[in-house]
Amino acid sequence: MSKPANIFRIVHLSDIHAGLIDFHPGYLLDKRFFGRLNQTTMRHRCLAMDRIPAFARLQREGEADFTICTGDLTSIGSAEEFAHCEELLKDILDYAGENFAFVPGNHDAYVRGSWQELSEAFQRLNHGRWKLEELPAVLSVGPVEFILLNAARPCAVWLSTGEMDTAAWDKLDYILASPASHSRSRVLVCHFPVCDHQGAPLSWRTKLVGYKRLIDWAEQGRFNAMLTGHVHYPFVQRIGVSEALAIGAGSLTIYQSCAQIDIDTRTGEITARTIFL
Ligand SMILES: [Fe+2]
Ligand SMILES: [Fe+2]
Repeated sequence: MSKPANIFRIVHLSDIHAGLIDFHPGYLLDKRFFGRLNQTTMRHRCLAMDRIPAFARLQREGEADFTICTGDLTSIGSAEEFAHCEELLKDILDYAGENFAFVPGNHDAYVRGSWQELSEAFQRLNHGRWKLEELPAVLSVGPVEFILLNAARPCAVWLSTGEMDTAAWDKLDYILASPASHSRSRVLVCHFPVCDHQGAPLSWRTKLVGYKRLIDWAEQGRFNAMLTGHVHYPFVQRIGVSEALAIGAGSLTIYQSCAQIDIDTRTGEITARTIFL
């Protein structure tokens, strides 16, 4: 069935974790050693890269207007892994063209030494719209005002938390100063969610530091939805006691999941669903 004319459709994928299993001596010096060990012994065997074409079909057959990727494309954020991932996503990127946006996950910002590789991949995938350090940034497309956030930072090996500095929080506060309008839905895009797939807070090891502020802002009607990754099982939840939706695509390669978000261009109504491919 073809997409109704009044629907702006977003397809949302996340957490591919397209790691390689090559090994460089330099990895012994930092947490990349553990990342490689994990990829080689565990993850590599349970990742279904062959589901990526199914997402490309969903995107094409569903006539998606915009495609969002909320990070953890890679395992340790190396240049080789970004190149490998972009090759795997080629059909998806070709279909989307400029109608594609990416925010990094904690695996993409794995160690300080790979920040340049991440910055370059970020610019490539976002068609040079911004430098990574410029986020939060606004992208207005059709009936949507996307606000892209980067909370991915290199952190200790036992943590996968997200964090934004004071300047980034202040900028987001400024962007959200006016209430969301009915004519344009305001959608935050961030790797780190405000809750897990059951609506519960994330643990101290995996949470976005300061996430409660986002719940307050949702309850004040300052945005309408938040698209996220990080939690590998997909979900759609209300944020706090607000009408705003927390939408997690889950992991395309671990749970073969993604999300589809339809926005009615006449009413602004947002309908989100998770899909297992
Ligand atoms: Fe992940
Ligand atoms: Fe993550």
